[in-house]
Amino acid sequence: MRSFLGRDILSLRDFERAEYFRVFQVADDLAPYARNRRNGELLKHKTLVTAFYQPSTRTRLATEAAMHRLGGRVVGFSDVKMTRAGDFYQESIKDTVHMLEYYGDVIAMRHFQQGAPAEAARWASVPVINCGDGWGEHPTQVLTDLYTTWKELGTLDGLKVLLVGDMRMRTMHSILYAMSQFDMEAFVVSPPEMSLLPEFKAELDARSVRYREVPAAADVVGEADVIYMEPVVQPDYTKSRDERAGEVGQTPGAYRITRELLRDKGKRGAIVLHSLPRMDELPLDVDTTRHARYWIEAFNGVVMRMALLALVLGAVE
Ligand code: CP
Repeated sequence: MRSFLGRDILSLRDFERAEYFRVFQVADDLAPYARNRRNGELLKHKTLVTAFYQPSTRTRLATEAAMHRLGGRVVGFSDVKMTRAGDFYQESIKDTVHMLEYYGDVIAMRHFQQGAPAEAARWASVPVINCGDGWGEHPTQVLTDLYTTWKELGTLDGLKVLLVGDMRMRTMHSILYAMSQFDMEAFVVSPPEMSLLPEFKAELDARSVRYREVPAAADVVGEADVIYMEPVVQPDYTKSRDERAGEVGQTPGAYRITRELLRDKGKRGAIVLHSLPRMDELPLDVDTTRHARYWIEAFNGVVMRMALLALVLGAVE
């Protein structure tokens, strides 16, 4: 297995099976810090730089919380308009990163341009963690999703996963790449205008990822062990910021997972994951079903980022 020391976490495209389990193991080892709400000292000599060019609640704060839990320091920005990249100068990623690399020991970046964290990694002498790039990928979220599934169901192999929502989403790309490393099968449900792109499907085929496109969630929900959701009422992820203008649309029934659907057709032990935030595709009353696992993901999201920070900074092998 490749060492994680100094490594960029940009994509799950080439993440290897053993590496998932190593990350899960480290997450388990570090979880007591978060569970006991006690900050440790593992990274007390290290500083995280967060560079968020797009809004975030979970990813930025979970990554920052993870650094605090391990005793590290955090500097960064969450509003690009207050930096030189977001004003008259439109400062380039290269120039920005040449500054940031001296302000800390690891950079966590979210950007509206696909590939921006990879571009940052070309110029940074410290590891770069992709916290979501345009429609590209969202590796730390999907590592959290897979870790949650593994904890809840005890395995990843042999599972059938129903993917519902906008298949242009970065989470959907990362999870489908990850499936190449496990004996998993996906049902893919999305509106036609949000379906998997032909070039991405060709890549999945080349990687022997098993998936089948299906018109409606109700058609296959009875076979799914894991239901993984994204909205279809979405902002434009290629924009730095997409404000809501007036009324937003409603999610068609084919792309909603309701309490009634789970009751009438769902597998007894199926779990529902959602990267959040949600719209109306996942009604609030699903929260109190036995299927909901998206709040456990809030905890696991911190633990996963603790594992990744500890690994890339060499605090654990
Ligand atoms: N899951 C996720 O990426 O959420 P945020 O946009 O709030 O970070």
